[in-house]
Amino acid sequence: MRTRLDTLVVSALQQGSAVPAFTCYDFTTALAVVGAAEQAGRGAILLVAPKTAATPNGLRLIAALRGLADGASVPIAVQLDHAAQWQVIADAVSAGADSVLVDGSSLPYEDNIALVRGVRAALEAQGADVVIEAELGGLAGDEDRAFGADAAGADAAGLTDPAQVEDFVARAGAQLLAVAVGNVHGKYKGEPRLRWDVLQDIAVRTHIPLVLHGASGIPAAELVKAAAMNVGKVNFNTELRTGVLALLEQRLAAHRADGENLQGLLAEWDREARSFAAAALGTLSR
Ligand code: 13P
Repeated sequence: MRTRLDTLVVSALQQGSAVPAFTCYDFTTALAVVGAAEQAGRGAILLVAPKTAATPNGLRLIAALRGLADGASVPIAVQLDHAAQWQVIADAVSAGADSVLVDGSSLPYEDNIALVRGVRAALEAQGADVVIEAELGGLAGDEDRAFGADAAGADAAGLTDPAQVEDFVARAGAQLLAVAVGNVHGKYKGEPRLRWDVLQDIAVRTHIPLVLHGASGIPAAELVKAAAMNVGKVNFNTELRTGVLALLEQRLAAHRADGENLQGLLAEWDREARSFAAAALGTLSR
């Protein structure tokens, strides 16, 4: 069943859990994620990257994911990730996204607030009931291609300033807040060094659920601490891609030799993505 992203996240937090969100560039991966969520009996979030949503096929993917969410036996939300362009947001919402990360984190503070408020007002004017996530603090790394970023890169991109959180949340009017606490998109160079002290400081300053991006590479033993600090949504992309690409690399030749067996290869893709999603669901669930 398709569900509001904020409802899903708030109810998970009430049980001491967080909800994993997975970037889906294709329908095979999305089917695997929803299958894993159904097997676990837990909700999950399907993320669509803005570069995907900016194409006609990407908009059709969003419509297909919405249909997949509608038919699922567990709560599933479909979110447009990291969008700053109004046209991409408007098109994705028309195609079926029911939540958007309005990402003004690279803008000056006041411009970030103005972007979130502007998008919210424009969506309301269209009568669209869309859950908004905002982001405060910059995340190092690329969202779609994994190059290494280290703690220095994370610091340079800008940790979330806890002193700004109350004002930002009150004025931006988002339902969820993505934070930068040493997390990066893509691969971590060296060990991730998450600033749990900063996260704790943020968590006491707002009641809206927090979101941790860049979960790939953060050990499960660390991720389990997130929900206790009001982190109700945890975003995965790189590790899921890595697993699928490695599997395709290893198994392609055998399936070609087996009569160009695309069906067999897709079944293995499903197993790989399903087991990654199942592990993430298990880590974040209480
Ligand atoms: P990773 O690619 O580092 O897992 O980050 C995913 C993400 O934050 C998507 O928004």
